[in-house]
Amino acid sequence: MKRPVAVAVGMAACTGPASDTGTVVDTARTDTDGAAVVRPPLTQPAAAVDVDPDPHVLETTLTAAPAAVLVGDATVDGYAYNGQVPGPTLRAEVGDLLVVHLVNDLDVPTTIHWHGAGAPYPMDGVPWQRSPVMPGGEQTYTFRVEHAGTFWYHPHFDTQHQVDLGLYGVLVVTDPDEPAYDHDLVLVLDAWGEALAEGEDADDHPHGLEGTALTWTVNGAVDPVLTLPAGDTARLRWVDASNTGYVALQGDGLTLLAGDQGVVTAPRDGEPVVLAPGDRAEHALGVAADLDVLASPFSLHGGATWGAPWRVLTVAAEGEGAPSLPAWSVPVTPPSPDPGTTTVTYTLQGDPHTGQWRINHEAFPDVTIAEVPEGERVVVEVRNLSPTHHPFHGHGHAFEVLAIDGTAPPIKTVEDTIDVPVRGIVRLAYTATRPGDWMQHCHILPHADGGMMTVLRVTPPPEPP
Ligand code: C2O
Ligand code: CU
Repeated sequence: MKRPVAVAVGMAACTGPASDTGTVVDTARTDTDGAAVVRPPLTQPAAAVDVDPDPHVLETTLTAAPAAVLVGDATVDGYAYNGQVPGPTLRAEVGDLLVVHLVNDLDVPTTIHWHGAGAPYPMDGVPWQRSPVMPGGEQTYTFRVEHAGTFWYHPHFDTQHQVDLGLYGVLVVTDPDEPAYDHDLVLVLDAWGEALAEGEDADDHPHGLEGTALTWTVNGAVDPVLTLPAGDTARLRWVDASNTGYVALQGDGLTLLAGDQGVVTAPRDGEPVVLAPGDRAEHALGVAADLDVLASPFSLHGGATWGAPWRVLTVAAEGEGAPSLPAWSVPVTPPSPDPGTTTVTYTLQGDPHTGQWRINHEAFPDVTIAEVPEGERVVVEVRNLSPTHHPFHGHGHAFEVLAIDGTAPPIKTVEDTIDVPVRGIVRLAYTATRPGDWMQHCHILPHADGGMMTVLRVTPPPEPP
């Protein structure tokens, strides 16, 4: 497992430039005893090993097993795919076939869900569709990737604990028509909680969510440094794999390219991008000078909040050079009009004190299954009546955001995970093209575990596997 060297957890201003060897020594960063420490490099999770010679087939094995996960200077008794957290990065092109053998070396059952990637129902990784992979067992997931974007994979069995302990990885689907960058990088954010020194479950702390109470890692490293040659361009693919943590990312020179479902935005400069658990976003970066990527405090109890931003990572520019970002010719599509009718309404209720979370007053699995026929245009209204935000995630179909609190987005916006603010109302639409019993749930995993999940059935029911 490629792990950063141990560093202490703590916040300090960045004053250290890249040295000419490329090793960044930030003398202003100190550990808890006041000693200067070297910040870890940002590494890329090792890529999945493709055993199929066909360039349009990615066949690989992911073995889920217990692992000692180093988070800063603490070790967590976690889980990992192929011994690494994040797990191997799967890279494929639109139209490629994925063949992924999941081997379960845990002593509990597990599955893989392909978050956002549009896997058909038999490959969705929900345990009632096909039985989970039992300890010592193996199962194969196979499907074609049809959309470019940054997706991720994680278990959908005891999800809260298994994701928390380190079972997740990134699936990057590229489109050969998209412009190329010198570096195409995944940056997986995770938050580890106060209990981590004790080796307990890490970020299940619904109240310790204000950034400072948690240790955030990027690809497993605390406050890392990404050294890139000045003049180069990079595409940064962010994934928020934390159970409960929000980040509002910002940095000079970051241009927002995409949300959950690939390039759907007109490139936008400068605004913070809020990632809720399960969310993704992509930035373009031209490397010119050292750059701190910061996260502003963002509370799930109400959004942007007081407090100084904290540093997620530093991009250190090595040498000199003036980057020129590739031009995107992304057509700016206006949002679809809201038909004003609603197929399914989900109200979100809950109580942080009891940990009971509900959709339409029902707790999974005792839920009413909404049914829609294949081919129907589905309009979903999600109303948040609870005192916290909820990132609403739908399996099976990505959705277009019609409106948030009555306002349509400026351009067509397709997502699979959408943050619903406190007392907010979000309207979503998609065409039901895939039969199946599709989970709809909050991606704050303790909320999902506390009952905030339901099922939308697209009929006819698919054949049993
Ligand atoms: Cu990423 Cu049902 O989840
Ligand atoms: Cu929630």
